[in-house]
Amino acid sequence: MRPIPTAELHLHIEGTLEPELAFALAERNGIRLPYADQDELRAAYSFSDLQSFLDLYYALMAVLRTEDDFADLADAYLARAREQGVRHAEIFFDPQAHTSRGVPIGTVINGLARALDAAPEKHGITTRLIMCFLRDESPESAVATFESARPHLDRITAVGLDSAEVGNPPSAFREVYALAREAGLKCVAHAGEEGPPSYVWEALDVLGVDRVDHGVRSLEDAALVARLVADQVPLTVCPLSNVRLRVIDRLEDHPLRLMLDAGLLVTVNSDDPAYFGGYLHDNMVAVTDALGLDEETVRTLARNSFRASFLDEPAKAAYLREIDAH
Ligand code: ADE
Ligand code: ZN
Repeated sequence: MRPIPTAELHLHIEGTLEPELAFALAERNGIRLPYADQDELRAAYSFSDLQSFLDLYYALMAVLRTEDDFADLADAYLARAREQGVRHAEIFFDPQAHTSRGVPIGTVINGLARALDAAPEKHGITTRLIMCFLRDESPESAVATFESARPHLDRITAVGLDSAEVGNPPSAFREVYALAREAGLKCVAHAGEEGPPSYVWEALDVLGVDRVDHGVRSLEDAALVARLVADQVPLTVCPLSNVRLRVIDRLEDHPLRLMLDAGLLVTVNSDDPAYFGGYLHDNMVAVTDALGLDEETVRTLARNSFRASFLDEPAKAAYLREIDAH
């Protein structure tokens, strides 16, 4: 199976930090990692749930300190993504995970922007940036983060909500989402990954999101599925992530096909590919094999990714023609 042109819509740039780059940045910044080598670090990538992953994900970010670090991180992702068919990437970042360590938000955004600005020519990938708020931090911290990002909003397309879901419902963040919308930004939120269908309802009705990230637990609520189908709200599904974080036992049990058959606008994404065993095409191949998807279904998933993107209509149409020609 050749990589098909795809838009990646659910990708945490911090989740693309491969052990090799983590050790290189640690050395560059004079930081000691609590792992002897890359193999020992990789051996720690065995997760029992979302929180057990997040603990390592936040700890390893200690190596990201300078603009160059963020630029190198994003450039490394873009190079890999292109080999995996990615033609457009809407990339999450977690500013609070860096500002809380004393890294200024401008350092993060300027570093990422440097790599993203070079990406069309260097990698043949167009990009957007999505600034996520950590839902296990306070709503006030989210508002303060948004205010500190105001000088950089021309670089940001949307806001998102991520980190530990259960016990941190979307409705707590209504104020910052209202500010984002007033500023002309699009809105997405993680919901229905570990959390209940009610969190997806809140993301839709309280936060007014344009897309739901994950949303796999929506299937537990028929009225919610009907709503998502009627409004064609995109769901950014991450199959390998779901298995690694034990949202789903086995890939063969993944509800992706059920979701497509129900009429949901589903896309396939890699979430935190350095931690979950694969980038975008790896996810496509894995679900194709596990669920026995046919070629036309893979095309549908690729088409959905561009339809669900924040690209303008002419750009979407151009990418859809690439899929037709594939
Ligand atoms: N941050 C990085 N990956 C995440 C995920 N899958 N869910 C919630 N927060 C995250
Ligand atoms: Zn995610």
